Amino acid sequence: MTILVTGGAGFIGGNFVLDWLAQSDEAIINLDKLTYAGNRQTLASLRDDPRHVFVQGDIADRACIDRLLVEHSPRAVVNFAAESHVDRSIDGPAPFIQTNVVGVFTLLEAVRAFYGTLSGSPREQFRFLHVSTDEVYGSLSPSDAPFAESHPYQPNSPYSASKAASDHLIRAWHHTYDLPVLTTNCSNNYGPYHFPEKLIPLTILNALAGKDLPVYGDGQQVRDWLYVKDHCHALRRVLQDGRVGQTYNVGGNSERTNLQVVHAICALLDDMHPRADSQSYARQITHVQDRPGHDRRYAIDAAKIARELGWSPAETFDSGLRQTVRWYLDHADWVQGVVSGDYRQWVARQYGSAGDAA
Ligand code: NAD
Ligand code: DAU
Repeated sequence: MTILVTGGAGFIGGNFVLDWLAQSDEAIINLDKLTYAGNRQTLASLRDDPRHVFVQGDIADRACIDRLLVEHSPRAVVNFAAESHVDRSIDGPAPFIQTNVVGVFTLLEAVRAFYGTLSGSPREQFRFLHVSTDEVYGSLSPSDAPFAESHPYQPNSPYSASKAASDHLIRAWHHTYDLPVLTTNCSNNYGPYHFPEKLIPLTILNALAGKDLPVYGDGQQVRDWLYVKDHCHALRRVLQDGRVGQTYNVGGNSERTNLQVVHAICALLDDMHPRADSQSYARQITHVQDRPGHDRRYAIDAAKIARELGWSPAETFDSGLRQTVRWYLDHADWVQGVVSGDYRQWVARQYGSAGDAA
């Protein structure tokens, strides 16, 4: 048995591939375009593992997907491939439409054709799992209930609009063509192999490099943080026992303001890797211009996946963040591999030279 994973050289996809092969002998075909966010170094431990086949390619390349489906006849497709960074989507939305909308459409059409060739048990068991985000639901005010699966779609950024479009395509391909899809909408992940354009790894690396810790606006925006390995576990549960056509919200029960997150990282670093002058890393916090259209609060009601699939997060925010900071302190080699060319250009454009983590 084999599954096809797309975007498996990225942050969550890479963690999913590593976790999957640590727990099962079922092979993975890993299709990734290797954009700036894809990193084969994350998969280095699998270099000689025959259960992992890496293919560099694009989900918008129909011929490539057709070939992989025919050649490997996977029992499932798990789609992580996406442009994932909100700030980049504001800077330039075109790649987000291309991959998150056109790419998902192309992947769906290829999978639909492949599914049409199946019969009997392979057809009954086949699943297409689409990994999406809570950002499709828009922004909550402080007193609003967390997002349930029934919450209306109100995407506010080019990124979340493109992910919302992909979710709608997934839904329609099930409704119209009976494609056996599953969708997950997850909150903010953090953990190992997180690309340092996102808040938590950027803060850790900037702190260690003695750079400013940029907090957008007043820093009172709230996110619901989930340790990435808990997300991977949730995805395995949904793939195994999720009801076809359903969506499942996945969250960490860990709402924090951005300022709380940055202070928590500083406190951990003060303890685990004190500054040479014994001052707190919190001295490096700097408020910078806010993100345009910045969503104020996300929060997930994860009752459905708990009730139906028995999933809940194993890590608290404190335990997950401690492991994450430890991981970055111990993996300078991985960090060096990602904070080069493209990354430097992005940081210079987004923050000016003061924000450069490298
Ligand atoms: P990421 O940016 O770290 O990785 C994305 C991966 O997809 C990269 O390896 C990249 O090379 C690959 N990719 C991009 N375009 C591709 C294409 N056209 N064809 C094939 N591969 C392509 O993203 P991530 O944070 O790991 O997110 C993975 C998925 O989970 C995304 O769909 C994202 O929307 C969703 N998600 C992310 C979070 C989060 O907090 N990071 C939370 C909820 C949902
Ligand atoms: O909610 C799920 C989403 O979480 C995923 O769908 C996205 O792919 C993922 O990137 C993430 O989106 P966010 O925009 O919430 O994550 P980011 O790490 O970019 O920002 C987290 C918060 O921190 C957000 O309110 C913006 C703020 N921020 C971010 C950066 C990079 C800062 O204050 N300073 C920064 O330098």
